[in-house]
Amino acid sequence: MTGIAEQPTEASHPPEVTLDEVVALCKRRGFIFQSSEIYGGLASTYDYGHYGVQLKNNVKAEWWRAVVQERDDMVALDAAILMHPRTWEASGHLEGFTDPMVDCRTCKLRFRADKLEDSACGRKPSVHPGEHSECDLTEPRQFNLMFETFMGPVRDDAARVYLRPETAQGIFVNFKNVLQFARKKPPFGIAQVGKAFRNEITPGNFIFRTREFEMMEIEYFVRGEDADRWHQQWMEDRMRWHTDLGIRPDHLRLRKHGPDELSHYSSATSDIEYLFPMGWSELEGIANRGDYDLSRHAEFSGEKLEYYDQDKGEAFVPHVIEPSLGADRSLLAFLVDAYDTEEVEGRKRTVLRLHPRLAPVKAAVLPLVSKAGMPERAREIYEQLRARFPAEFDEGGSIGRRYRRQDEIGTPWGITVDGQTMEDGTVTLRDRDSLEQVRVPADDLAERLGAKLAEPWLSPKLG
Ligand code: GAP
Repeated sequence: MTGIAEQPTEASHPPEVTLDEVVALCKRRGFIFQSSEIYGGLASTYDYGHYGVQLKNNVKAEWWRAVVQERDDMVALDAAILMHPRTWEASGHLEGFTDPMVDCRTCKLRFRADKLEDSACGRKPSVHPGEHSECDLTEPRQFNLMFETFMGPVRDDAARVYLRPETAQGIFVNFKNVLQFARKKPPFGIAQVGKAFRNEITPGNFIFRTREFEMMEIEYFVRGEDADRWHQQWMEDRMRWHTDLGIRPDHLRLRKHGPDELSHYSSATSDIEYLFPMGWSELEGIANRGDYDLSRHAEFSGEKLEYYDQDKGEAFVPHVIEPSLGADRSLLAFLVDAYDTEEVEGRKRTVLRLHPRLAPVKAAVLPLVSKAGMPERAREIYEQLRARFPAEFDEGGSIGRRYRRQDEIGTPWGITVDGQTMEDGTVTLRDRDSLEQVRVPADDLAERLGAKLAEPWLSPKLG
């Protein structure tokens, strides 16, 4: 069950930013669009535009960097979305990956039974308050969240396959392959990023819960007796990843699942929750899956899925710790945390205070005026910079307007080429957050900004 864990809980104070404001900025600046908009849109499905793609790529790249590149005990995998149908029998998803669903005979709407709240007028849906005060609900029915499709031309049971609802199973079924080639022994992990699909009954809150989304998952294999310690360690490591990338610590918390909300495979799960505009909600799940998955796949496939410890002369089935994060949900948390407005010289500015490594564009090069050789010199500087990281050249409109545009997409550094540049080769370097402007030699820019990108960073919202 995906269940109760994902219900937002009330925030104690009003949100600094509403979801509508974030959605509006995403549309205005071309981060994220409603899918198939010209046909009226497909519900809860979104397309990423230029800056959205760059931001999401950066989120994923930072994840890969932290969980594979900077560790010795992790390897990467990219398994197919479509898997042998027996996978889902073994994993328990065919039987257990369900949410309870109810229909309202009055509103003709459908709800998750675990998302209703009792009220004096009857059982009233809390997620979509209907037009009617009294709702007449059917008894809950279990609804399987997996998307079905058919492989090949014949649409019969033998051809039925599923779009994976989690990437994890691709890792478990490749356990033997990875062991053979990666020369790893527990504790070690396998990381994967890829699309997953869930026929959610009530998707919503923009890209928070959609039916098609991207997951970043780790399956970390350990000896059973070490599982609790590694579970704890991964909670700390994953918490630090979010804060190192600028999420404010007081907007994150860990919440342990109660026995009634554990997934069918989990013996213990804790969620990292973020204070989204709709309240505290799951950002990342960190589960102890025990030896459930490897044992089940061994049983269903007839293959031995265990590790043979040469030193001890014994084989064992590793237990699994699973930190699992949605790339889209993580991106939403970064956007919400970064969104800010302030008044500068009597004018309101909206700024995304993103960690520079997450920012879609690192530097914008702006000629002060479109004459006196400035555009040409600015273009030269821009071409040097873009060889190192994403940069933009913008010569259209007033300098103020150009800065406001860059602030809204979170560009950390603005570089202005002016009259003095033509004389002494220096430019002004503007900081997105402090608005401080310093004069620096144009020739040093790539080095200087490269060094800044590698520095630790704290959200300026922390004061
Ligand atoms: N393999 C573990 C697993 O699937 P989950 O808690 O169901 O666990 C893991 O999902 C993470 O994936 C969540 O914490 C969330 O970040 C993301 N996620 C899950 N369902 C999602 C959805 N419908 N839309 C967007 N992200 C989702």
